[in-house]
Amino acid sequence: MDSSVDLTSSELDKLAEYLQKHTGIHLEKKKLQRFKRKIEAIFVKHKIATFNDFYHQLRFLASEELIQDLTNAVTVNETYFWREHQQFELLVKEILPLYVREGSTPKVRILVSPCSSGEELYSIMLHILEAGSLLEKLNIEMIGIDIDSSMIEKAKRGFYSQRSIDKVPKKLLEKYFKKVGAFYQLERSVVKAAHFMQVNIFEKDLEKKMGHFDIIFSRNMLIYFNAADKQHCFETFHSLMKEGATLFLGHADANNIDKKRFKLLKNGFHVFEKIV
Ligand SMILES: C[S@@+](CC[C@H](N)C(=O)[O-])C[C@H]1O[C@@H](n2cnc3c(N)ncnc32)[C@H](O)[C@@H]1O
Repeated sequence: MDSSVDLTSSELDKLAEYLQKHTGIHLEKKKLQRFKRKIEAIFVKHKIATFNDFYHQLRFLASEELIQDLTNAVTVNETYFWREHQQFELLVKEILPLYVREGSTPKVRILVSPCSSGEELYSIMLHILEAGSLLEKLNIEMIGIDIDSSMIEKAKRGFYSQRSIDKVPKKLLEKYFKKVGAFYQLERSVVKAAHFMQVNIFEKDLEKKMGHFDIIFSRNMLIYFNAADKQHCFETFHSLMKEGATLFLGHADANNIDKKRFKLLKNGFHVFEKIV
C-alpha cells in the first residue's frame, strides 16, 4: 500500500506538540518537515488512511507501537565507530587508571547516552580491551541508552555496515570483526558484555531506574535540543553522576554548560568533572 497521505503544516504542528508533551522531544515545525516522509511511511505500516485517525490512535488509544514508531521516525541516528576517538584514548590513558586500587577490583560504571546503534559504546569497549591490564584491574560495566527502540535492537545485534566500521584500524577490524556477507559481525563476547536499554533521557526518576555512574558519554544529542531541554539534560546527568564523576561531551554539545556544577578537565577535549 502506497501512502496517499500528504501531511499539512498544521498537522505536523500537532505532531510536534504531541511529541514535546509525551516524549520530551522538542522539534520545531521546520525540523519536523525533514521527517515528513518517514512519518507518512508509518501510516502505510499501520494501515491508517487519515491524519485524524492517526492522531486519534496516538492521543486516545495511546498505541505504544505507534508512539514508538513516531519517535523512531524523528530521531537522527548518525554514528560510526572511532568517532572523535581522542576522547576514548583519554579515557583509557588518564581517567580509568585513576580508579585502579592495589588489592581490589573496583567497579566502574560507564553510561553512553545516547548510544544510537552501539558504535560509540563498542568503540569504548575495544579501546579498553586494547589497553591491556585495565580489564583485570577494574570491573567495568557498560550501559547504553537511546530513545529509539530500533537503534537499541541494532546495537544488541552487533552487525555493522562498511560505512560504520570505516575508521576502525585495520588490525583491530581483523581482530574483533568477522565479515558476514556485506556486514561486519562484532566479536560475540564483546556484544554479550554490553547492556542496552530503550530510555528517554527526559523520563522521570532515572536515578532509580539506572543508579549512578562514574563516567557518562553524551555526544551529538544535546545539539538537537533547545536551551531549556539542554539544561534539563545537564541536570539529569549531574544527578546520575557519582561525586567526582566524568562527563564526556561531543564538540558541539558543551556550550552553556553550568561551570558551577561541571569543571572543565582538559582543554580541547570537552570533558568535565562533576562539582558537588
Ligand atoms: C546523532 S546520534 C549520536 C549517537 C552517538 N552518541 C554518537 O555520537 O555517535 C543521536 C541519538 O540521540 C538519540 N536521542 C534523541 N533524543 C533522545 C532522548 N530524548 N533520549 C534518549 N536518546 C535520544 C537519538 O535516537 C539518536 O540515536
